[in-house]
Amino acid sequence: MELGLGDKIVLVTGSSKGIGKAIAAGFAAEGSKVAITARGAEELQQAAREISKSTGADVIGVAVDMSKAAEITHMVEEVVKRFGTVHVLVNNAGGVGTFAPFQDLSDDDWLEILNLNLLSAVRATRAVLPFMQRQKWGRIINISSESGTQPDAFMPHYNASKAAMNNLTKSLSKAYAADGILVNTVSPAFIMTPLVANMLQKMAKEQGTSAEEVAAQFLEKNRPHIELKRPGESEEVASAVVYLASEQASFITGANLRVDGGSVASV
Ligand SMILES: NC(=O)c1ccc[n+]([C@@H]2O[C@H](COP(=O)([O-])OP(=O)(O)OC[C@H]3O[C@@H](n4cnc5c(N)ncnc54)[C@H](OP(=O)(O)O)[C@@H]3O)[C@@H](O)[C@H]2O)c1
Repeated sequence: MELGLGDKIVLVTGSSKGIGKAIAAGFAAEGSKVAITARGAEELQQAAREISKSTGADVIGVAVDMSKAAEITHMVEEVVKRFGTVHVLVNNAGGVGTFAPFQDLSDDDWLEILNLNLLSAVRATRAVLPFMQRQKWGRIINISSESGTQPDAFMPHYNASKAAMNNLTKSLSKAYAADGILVNTVSPAFIMTPLVANMLQKMAKEQGTSAEEVAAQFLEKNRPHIELKRPGESEEVASAVVYLASEQASFITGANLRVDGGSVASV
């Protein structure tokens, strides 16, 4: 299947590891020019070299803290300086913030996670839109979570930030369709990335057990509707994102594509 991504310039935020890195590698394998971003400069440059070596694509790393508005503006300027424009923006940077139930979360905890998970996407989108409008072609893909549609009792700040992202996707899809810009969400569930591995390690330490045991318990008790009965892989999310950015997905906008092994229970 020809995806038509060989002449595209792609910016993936939060992409030195985990889901973002797999997405960047997916686009690079299609011949796109790719910009990856993260705070940790060393790991970022290493990831850029690794992806470039394995795919032969032109990959640059731009160090940025996505919780800072000025750095996001600078990030887009750097990508445009190097590659000339942005065709595809993947808003992937995000985190879980303070790992706590509702009553232990302060206003600052809420503001921190909304700033990182939601406003980073707002700001990056705002910065790339003029280029997409000018070229009458753009793809924006927001990496949300199953928790944005089917929240559990824990970490309501994270869940709400992802629900807001789902809603933002729909608004943007309506606002910019006439400019040839398609906007979609991809909602993963329980993907085995460094973020999740660290959480499992922490829980295992607290419970005096192994990370594997915690993962098995988590699947059974907290994610009983992951019908495939295993965590997902970053590459499984990446395939969905690359498809949505491609010419093969030219009539899809405002959608929320779940990559969750069946976890979200609604039809
Ligand atoms: N893993 C899952 O099960 C899962 C499920 C649903 C949704 N998601 C979503 O998928 C996205 C990626 O998650 P992941 O599991 O791949 O995370 P991860 O393994 O922690 O990787 C996160 C990436 O983002 C970068 N990053 C983090 N904070 C940043 C900041 N303030 N500014 C710039 N870059 C930043 C990290 O590099 P630095 O630390 O060096 O900055 C890293 O490259 C997130 O939006 C997450 O909510 C994940």
